Amino acid sequence: MQETKAAPLYPGVEKVIFDEAQIQKAVKRIGEQITQDYAGEKLLLVTVLKGAFIFMADLARSIDGHVEIDFMAVSSYGDGTKSSGVVRIIKDLNTAVEGRHVIIVEDILDSGLTLKYLLKNLKSRNPLSIEVATLLFKEGKQQTNVNCKYVGLVCPDEFVVGYGLDHNEKYRNLPYIGALSPSAY
Ligand code: IMP
Ligand code: MG
Repeated sequence: MQETKAAPLYPGVEKVIFDEAQIQKAVKRIGEQITQDYAGEKLLLVTVLKGAFIFMADLARSIDGHVEIDFMAVSSYGDGTKSSGVVRIIKDLNTAVEGRHVIIVEDILDSGLTLKYLLKNLKSRNPLSIEVATLLFKEGKQQTNVNCKYVGLVCPDEFVVGYGLDHNEKYRNLPYIGALSPSAY
């Protein structure tokens, strides 16, 4: 009998949490939901850099409709693995959101403090509507109530990397989402 060997994981990654197929299935499902919910409307996807860049690229291609894209960069973590709760805007949007249907595209909802800040900030610019799409939702970690309409995958409470998510800017290019081994912290 022929044995199939799994490819070794990238150094520092302990295990795969979601493989490529699971991620693509979740992204496609959200894309279809958004396609239905915004049928006939013009949609602005606000990507939160850097972590959501790959999710955005796949999500945008799974939405059938008028989609525009803009980017915001915020920092809430510094170099660590715990949320500081202090959010700084590093790069603001180029587009005005007033009168637009907006979806904030995030990589992961952990404490929720980043999204709480972003929602408050963007709501104050008078969009026609605003919702949140997050690829990952860390179970039981939320310190604040964020209404997130589109959730890809519920993630265990571990520090995860890959598919856009980093640790000290590394691992964003991994095609899967994996847990970081404690020795890599
Ligand atoms: P929150 O403010 O605690 O919800 O954290 C939001 C941001 O922290 C996310 O957009 C991520 O960039 C980052 N983050 C939170 N948890 C993780 C993780 O497990 N791995 C990598 N980045 C994370
Ligand atoms: Mg990050």
